[in-house]
Amino acid sequence: MSILQFKKNILITGGAGFIGSHLVRLFVTKYPDYKIINLDKLTYAGNLENLKDIDSSDNYEFVKGDIQDKDFLADLFTKKAITDVIHLAAESHVDRSISGPMEFILTNIVGTANLLDTAKGYWTELKGHTFYHISTDEVYGSLGAEGFFLETTPYDPRSPYSASKASSDHLVRAYQHTYGMEVKISNCSNNYGSHQFPEKLIPLMINNIRNKKPLPIYGTGENIRDWLWVEDHARAIDVIFHKGEIGETYNIGGWNEWTNIALVKHLCSIMDKKLELPQGESAELITFVKDRAGHDQRYAIDATKIKKELGWEPSIQFEEGLEKTVDWYLNNEDWVNAITSGDYQQYYKKHYSS
Ligand code: NAD
Ligand code: TYD
Repeated sequence: MSILQFKKNILITGGAGFIGSHLVRLFVTKYPDYKIINLDKLTYAGNLENLKDIDSSDNYEFVKGDIQDKDFLADLFTKKAITDVIHLAAESHVDRSISGPMEFILTNIVGTANLLDTAKGYWTELKGHTFYHISTDEVYGSLGAEGFFLETTPYDPRSPYSASKASSDHLVRAYQHTYGMEVKISNCSNNYGSHQFPEKLIPLMINNIRNKKPLPIYGTGENIRDWLWVEDHARAIDVIFHKGEIGETYNIGGWNEWTNIALVKHLCSIMDKKLELPQGESAELITFVKDRAGHDQRYAIDATKIKKELGWEPSIQFEEGLEKTVDWYLNNEDWVNAITSGDYQQYYKKHYSS
């Protein structure tokens, strides 16, 4: 099918990453009349094998590129006749933003500005084109013991990562307010599930338990996060893209708060069961380490608006999702070894050579 025959040519940025790959898979399989163009730089966090099951689909195309490169973007929009954007490409790990903030500023802020400005230049008539920006609840700052983040909560980002995401959210809103671009934003809580780079809490702990390495808990382990199954996030993005109001923000969360220490202990007990170890053995690996600089105490999303207005809610219980996640990591040891070593050759050879 030529590109002009599709109903929409949707540019999904960061589609080779954790959430992006789940979203690309959902859109490619659910909407054969949309062309999905996955633009990704393939940083350490982006892996094309995440999409091997759908990458020969007629309505899918991968383009390697950097959102920091505006000339490249201008060319891409023209060549692919982009009609809509769902923007996920970002540097996403808080600890990396503390040790090296500049790449976060360049990709998350300048890269988003490049995309907005390219879209504005290419879409001569802004009406009818959606620019949907995927953001985080971390822009709202840190909660105490009570309360939830609402869509109206004032921004108060505290890490270089959250400050860069907050900045990009403001730019997206400015393009609507100033130029009339048809934008949408969603701010989601912590995701978990398959294909997450094992530097984030849950996959890091699974991998360390399997390798009998210490489980580093920052500070006291009493910090709280609200966890959401990644495929539920992808479903929410689908609903917002199709039914969300232009110019609106939607908070997405799991109504699922856990202290880090309770979560890791729970994970240890699942791992003991799966690895047929005596109960309590994995938890012996827990090691309290120096706290993260500026560590936000608690995140918790009030996801009432998206439920009431768009009918979305999480589909699976955390216990079930966590067990599925553990199973995926245990069954995909090669994937973990390949992405952590940066050497995909062995992985490709084993799984995709015919
Ligand atoms: P990820 O780190 O797994 O993936 C990011 C992807 O972006 C990678 O494939 C990477 O190669 C690509 N990328 C990075 N820099 C790029 C650049 N300059 N040009 C093009 N591509 C580039 O991240 P994720 O966890 O999948 O998060 C995706 C988005 O969702 C991010 O915008 C993040 O802020 C947001 N978010 C994440 C979570 C979470 O829990 N992971 C929660 C809420 C919001
Ligand atoms: P993370 O997965 O990095 O997500 P975020 O910082 O964006 O919420 O961390 C989740 C929580 O787990 C956070 O409170 C920091 C904590 N944490 C640890 O205690 N040890 C670790 O090794 C990691 C990576 C995170």
